[in-house]
Amino acid sequence: MACPFRRAIAAQVSRVLDLPPEKLINSITAVAVSKKRSSEDFQLFVDSVVENGKRLSIHDLQAQTQRLLEQLKCDAVVNEISSGPGKIKFKINREVLAKTIVQQVSKDGSEYGFKSELLSSLPRGKIVVEFSSPNVAKRFHVGHLRSTIIGNFISNLMKALGHDVTRINYLGDWGMQFGLLGAGFQQFGCEEKLKANPLQHLFEVYVQINNVAEKDENIQKAAQEFLRQLEGGDPQSLAMWQHFRALSIEEYTRVYKRLGVHFDEFSGESFYQDKAQDILKLLENRGLLRKTEKGTGVVDLPEKRVGSSYATVVRSDGTSLYITRDLAAAVDRMDKYCCERMIYVTDKSQENHFQQLFQILRLMGYKWTDGCCHVPFGLVQGMKTRRGDVLFLEDVLDEARTRMLQNMTSSETTKELEDPYDTAEKVGLAALIIQDFKGPLLSDYRFDWDRALQSRGDTGVFLQYTHARLHSLEEMCNSGRSDDFNAACLQDPQAISILQHLLRYDEVLCKSCEDLQPKYIVNYLLALSHLAGVAHKTLPVKGSTIDVAQARLQLFKTVRSVLASGMKLLGIKPVIKM
Ligand code: ARG
Repeated sequence: MACPFRRAIAAQVSRVLDLPPEKLINSITAVAVSKKRSSEDFQLFVDSVVENGKRLSIHDLQAQTQRLLEQLKCDAVVNEISSGPGKIKFKINREVLAKTIVQQVSKDGSEYGFKSELLSSLPRGKIVVEFSSPNVAKRFHVGHLRSTIIGNFISNLMKALGHDVTRINYLGDWGMQFGLLGAGFQQFGCEEKLKANPLQHLFEVYVQINNVAEKDENIQKAAQEFLRQLEGGDPQSLAMWQHFRALSIEEYTRVYKRLGVHFDEFSGESFYQDKAQDILKLLENRGLLRKTEKGTGVVDLPEKRVGSSYATVVRSDGTSLYITRDLAAAVDRMDKYCCERMIYVTDKSQENHFQQLFQILRLMGYKWTDGCCHVPFGLVQGMKTRRGDVLFLEDVLDEARTRMLQNMTSSETTKELEDPYDTAEKVGLAALIIQDFKGPLLSDYRFDWDRALQSRGDTGVFLQYTHARLHSLEEMCNSGRSDDFNAACLQDPQAISILQHLLRYDEVLCKSCEDLQPKYIVNYLLALSHLAGVAHKTLPVKGSTIDVAQARLQLFKTVRSVLASGMKLLGIKPVIKM
């Protein structure tokens, strides 16, 4: 359902300004809750609606603000109308505020906020999100971890918004590493070890053969020969490659599951090996391919901002490159999914690659390129485990769980848990995700386990703790389900602050959808948890009269519901005990 408050305000303003209410809705924003508690709930910046957003002179702005203030009238929903510099402020009837929000959250559940007119006016469609995309037999580095959690968040958000989302993992499953693996497996490989721990074993073989190949030219030749056979479609080489790939995917899937991430499709560079040749033909036919003296093929790029004036798309021996396969993959995906948007999530070192990719697609005449975007993120320094560098995704998950388990064991407040490992894993992951999502994605940051795992302060542990505490409050005091409560009992300033904060959730979601940045939601949920913490201390449920207890319980339930949905969007599984 739409926000009845914005509607009521828009209806009023619409009458005075003679503008359709729909034009006004987006300009009516909830006032952010601050230490200095404000009694107004919404505000309207006058210059955003008068004169079509044109900047007014101070004098005109004052005059218009005054005019609006004089002509607007309070009603059953809007109790007070006042003005500030260049804006009109609105206070909602307190009982209506409490009743409406609590009921709305209870009715909408995880869709609360998404049903708001701010979001429902955004277009819906098909979206492909490509993320994680590790390289088989190579290490899974922190960049892949970031891509995984960010891509998962974007997919969750788009899905919640009502898009039809396809999640693709584009594996690095082709190229010289397979040549080396093919040549190296006979020497260093072991079928049992491969079955038991494919990612680890392939990586070991890869490292070993690499070391040897550095000194021995024959090995290099053997690797090239294996790759040549692979590219030529030799059944035996292909079967081996297929075997490595399938076992790796199986293990990736298991580890992604621990992380709560799934993919609709595991594609990969291998798949576009042949199709890349079709792309080269297309480029040639359209006169976009230029042969260089060295025998390579390049596409000239007129847009200068992409770092280079050309992109190499074919080697002198006729084989394709990373970008050629990406061209083929994009065209193929569009054919298959006919999507409105295609989102790629990788670290910022690939920014030029994607800008070049999009530019070539545009030169090829694909109008849908406008719907393609790269979401880049910064580098993370210092993520290590006690055993050393992070080699695999599982190392990070294990480390987060172990450290969290230790913290829980040494904490006096930890509850008796059915499955402490599971809880530690969920809380540890929340810590990782929040540390990563707190700032702008593009910023680099230094990873710090101790800081991430602090139980107080702005951490994922704190969010989980708040959620668990609210859950146990419900368990302890639950007097059966009842949305019918006395809203007059929710008038304490701590309760009002929470309600005001809840009014702003749709704006926060909207901002996140526009920018594809999780930080707005993270900071919103942290603030919500702080407000809930204060309210939990000052507004007891136990020991209050039935009416008051009932109303407060409803408020806490409401908070927990929004907290849980927000956490799930971020890829966190809320715990109910810790
Ligand atoms: N496998 C690549 C890497 O690890 C990332 C792939 C990104 N996606 C793409 N379509 N190029 O760097």
